[in-house]
Amino acid sequence: MKKTVLVSGGAGFIGSHVTVELVQAGYDVLIADNFSNCDETNYKGVCAILGKEMPLVKMDFCDAAAADALFAGHKIDAVIHFAAFKAVGESVEKPLMYYRNNLESFINVLEAAKAHGCHNVLFSSSATVYGEPEKVPVTEESPRQPATSPYGNTKQMCEDILNDTVRSTEGSKEEIRGILLRYFNPIGAHPSALIGELPRGVPNNLVPFITQTAIGRRECLSIFGNDYPTADGTCLRDYIDIVDLAKAHVYAVRRMLEGKMKKGCEVFNVGTGRPVSVLELVNAFEKVNGVKLNWKFAPRRAGDVTAIWADPTLANNELGWKAERSVEQTLAAAWAWEKRLAGK
Ligand code: UD1
Repeated sequence: MKKTVLVSGGAGFIGSHVTVELVQAGYDVLIADNFSNCDETNYKGVCAILGKEMPLVKMDFCDAAAADALFAGHKIDAVIHFAAFKAVGESVEKPLMYYRNNLESFINVLEAAKAHGCHNVLFSSSATVYGEPEKVPVTEESPRQPATSPYGNTKQMCEDILNDTVRSTEGSKEEIRGILLRYFNPIGAHPSALIGELPRGVPNNLVPFITQTAIGRRECLSIFGNDYPTADGTCLRDYIDIVDLAKAHVYAVRRMLEGKMKKGCEVFNVGTGRPVSVLELVNAFEKVNGVKLNWKFAPRRAGDVTAIWADPTLANNELGWKAERSVEQTLAAAWAWEKRLAGK
């Protein structure tokens, strides 16, 4: 019997790539999305890659009755929860909107999972929970730092909500097992160029800003800060290929469904372990794609940390997962996706 995985936010950037990998690994996937922050491009791309119409429920997980009805109406073996707002700056301006949406939707997922016998919950967390780390690379044991934005706070709070739920249900018939995946900086697109990142308005993140500048939608990329205490003065991050990242979910789901977890709630860093500076990333993009990018140095962006990258040893050893793609391959995929969007 095939197992069914519910992917909330399955039409988004990460959710769509995860759906493809799950189906290709032999799982049935039910996509649920309210399309509040995306259109149907990625959903259609997923169907095109997989060569079939994927089951889709248009719904908002903030609607508790709808969440309950979804779990009541389907046999769901595991749920991966992506449905959330994710813009750091917007969360500072509209904290209540972020707290309501990101917390309420996750609470509703957990309530419905408990009520209808779904025991496996995977939450999409973020390296943002480590704040400005004292030591790099960060392991899962590195302390969480106070969040610098409501967005970051919702990630920490959802981690706690899952942990507490796991603890309170242990050994009961409503038992919930949890996995928290802490993503570093997901970038790139599917090699088919049929799904990828689709930011609304002006992109906040580096790679979509690079590709939009290269295609001519943006005038010039600003590199935020060249006076950081790093080799070239720009920030260091751990850029993880979106397909590699998606595959980590397959390993995590399998671990849950096969009863291989070593405790009720497990945490894994999902990164490459390889620090790359902003300048290195820009240079790599130009070189691998043979395009010249218009960029300038600009003042630091408020809230940015100097350097963070993962120690992915735990995920490598326990999940049997490892990031495989080079930054160059990933940047080539991001560029192919941007060109396809532009019809070039
Ligand atoms: C942010 C969030 C993170 C979230 C991730 C993906 C925080 C502190 N960070 O990470 O939680 O998971 O986005 O959505 O909450 N840069 C430029 N010019 C630009 C854009 C970015 O120089 O136009 C630089 C930034 O200063 C940074 C690097 O590029 O050094 C990466 O920035 P970005 O892609 O926005 O990701 P993070 O801020 O690392």
